[in-house]
This record gives sequence, C-alpha cells and structure tokens, in this order.
Amino acid sequence: MNASGAVTLRRPDDFHLHVRDGEALAAVVPFSAARFARALIMPNLRPPVRTTAEALAYRQRILAAVPAGAPFTPLMSLYLTDQTPAEEAERARESGCILGFKLYPAGATTHSDAGVTDIRAVYGLLERLQETGLALQVHGEVTDPRVDVFDREARFIDTVLAPLAERFARLRIVFEHITTRAAVEFVLGAREGIAATVTPQHLLMNRNALFAGGIRPHHYCLPVLKSEADREALCAAVRGGSPRLFLGTDSAPHARSAKESACGCAGIFSAHAALELYAEAFEAMGALDRLEAFAAHHGADFYGLPRNGGRVRLVKTAWDVPPSYPFGAGELIGLRAGERIGWRIAAVEET
Ligand code: NCD
Ligand code: ZN
Repeated sequence: MNASGAVTLRRPDDFHLHVRDGEALAAVVPFSAARFARALIMPNLRPPVRTTAEALAYRQRILAAVPAGAPFTPLMSLYLTDQTPAEEAERARESGCILGFKLYPAGATTHSDAGVTDIRAVYGLLERLQETGLALQVHGEVTDPRVDVFDREARFIDTVLAPLAERFARLRIVFEHITTRAAVEFVLGAREGIAATVTPQHLLMNRNALFAGGIRPHHYCLPVLKSEADREALCAAVRGGSPRLFLGTDSAPHARSAKESACGCAGIFSAHAALELYAEAFEAMGALDRLEAFAAHHGADFYGLPRNGGRVRLVKTAWDVPPSYPFGAGELIGLRAGERIGWRIAAVEET
C-alpha cells in the first residue's frame, strides 16, 4: 500500500466460482468480469456438468453473459460421478479450457447428490487424470452425519485426502476452500502438486458470525465457518505467502428466498465485492503486499497458465453495499449487504 491508501495488482483470477445458469448466470457474471480476468467455474448445476461437451456448451452460455468489451475467460471443471468414464480425462485435456475434475463427496454440499459415493469408484479416472496433468478439485468434507459438522474437513484429510495423495503420487490436487488449521498444516506440509483455495469469508469471519444477534443465513456456507483459531491459522498461512495458497472466492449465489428459509441453502455470494473483501482481509492481517501474488500469481502458476496482463487499482475508500441485487425473478443478498466495505476498485487496465 502506498501512502495514499492504494494498491495496484496484476489482473487477478478467481479459481473457484459458482455462476449457475439462465437468468441467475446473467445476473452474476458481470460482477466477476469486472474484477477478474479468468475464473474456474464450478460444475454443480442441475443436472451437473459431467462431460467435456456439456462444459463447452456451458462455457458458451457464460461467455454470452459477459458484458461487451470485458475480457473475461471462463475456465471449466467437470463434475465427477461414480460413472464418469476414464476416457473423459483425455477429452477434457484436449478441449484446452478444462482445468480438471471436481470431486464432490455425494451429499457434502449444494447440488452434490450426483457426486462420488465411494472414492474407489473413480480410481480408474484418477489414474488417467494423473497422466493428463489436469487437476482434481476437491470439496474436502466427509458426509457421515455422525461426524460433527465442524470436524468434517479434518476427518476428510485423514480418511480420504491424505491416502489419495499418496496413492496417486503425481495427481495434482486443489483442496478447495480450506477452513481449518488442520487443512493449512496438511497443504503446507504435503508433497509437491497439492494446493488450496481460500475464500474471503473464511479469512474475515469465524463461526460467531453465524449467530451474531440472531441466526444469519447469509453467513452460512459449506464448509461452514470455523473457530477463531482456525481463521487465524488461515490468515497466518496466507500472510506467509505460500505459493500453494491462492484466491478462490466460492461465491455461490442463491435467491434470498432460498437462503431465508426454515432449511436455507449453503452458499455465500461475494462476487459483487470479492477483490475488495480480500483487500480488507489482507490489510487487517498486515499483508497487503502479499495480495497480488495470492490473487494473480500462485493460482496461474499452479495451473500452468500464463499470468494475466493488465492491472487493477484498489483504493481505501469505503462504499455501501446495496441491500440486494436483482436475481432473475428474485433477489440476491451479497456479503456485507447494507453495510460498508473499506476498499473499492478505482480502475482496471485490461492490457
Ligand atoms: C456452494 C453452492 O452453493 O454451489 N455452496 C457453498 O456453501 N459453498 C457449493 C460448494 O462449493 O460447496
Ligand atoms: Zn464452491
């Protein structure tokens, strides 16, 4: 940060983003296109994006929702199921715009019911994936309802992820949206080829935010917010500048009516202010000088993509987040709706 409270970054990437489809897609894509050069789009539509052909068609629908003149490149991930044929790995690689396959343990999160019921069912595909050099993006939580919801990520590391990383010793793995000290320790100590994304909400909030003055459905996502000690461990790791940690917002829009419900959906929408929220988090941890590498270098380097050209300039000027945004026939409540964010985007240079 310079003396006037500004920071300039190479144009960043969001390596974990949900944009949905149809009217919802049209409502949310412009927010990401205004901030990020590229985003890795999650495949948990209904029905899921399982094949290369489906991903290419979805990619065209996303491109059609990008405002004219905004250079925004969607990168794709395929939804892994028990039935995914092993040859899909080569088809995906040949497409040139698919970065990997997403492992949702069946039942772990929003639209994950078609996910993998037993990791052994996909060993054949993982073998081929390892050969292609594409990545496995992992939602890292066990689904056993007997396991405490706050322990599901740590349990997943011990029972699934660590053995998987050992069995497929060259498989590139992204442990998505890590939330715990255990996950930080695993990733930083793991073999080469293992990385993780970190969301703004898990850097900024702990689980008290779910119950601040009443139950807060707009702070509910999966993996659920964790303890302050976990949040501090995430911040310390990000502040340390490890190239294994990079930006993935997990911005996950749901209509207000689906969130404010007796059984509200998991997912926090942050695309309207994602980079600004990370700037707040990095400032609070005294590490604004680390933001550029986290947002624009580490992820691109991990995936073997060129770093983006262009620049984004953020200034320390507060703004009020609107109480809601239009979302098809409904409304969308962004993180910090009706409250302030301390940073704003002042300029974007595209080349
Ligand atoms: C995501 C969604 O709504 O698609 N929800 C969430 O709470 N993060 C799915 C996911 O990434 O787990
Ligand atoms: Zn997600």
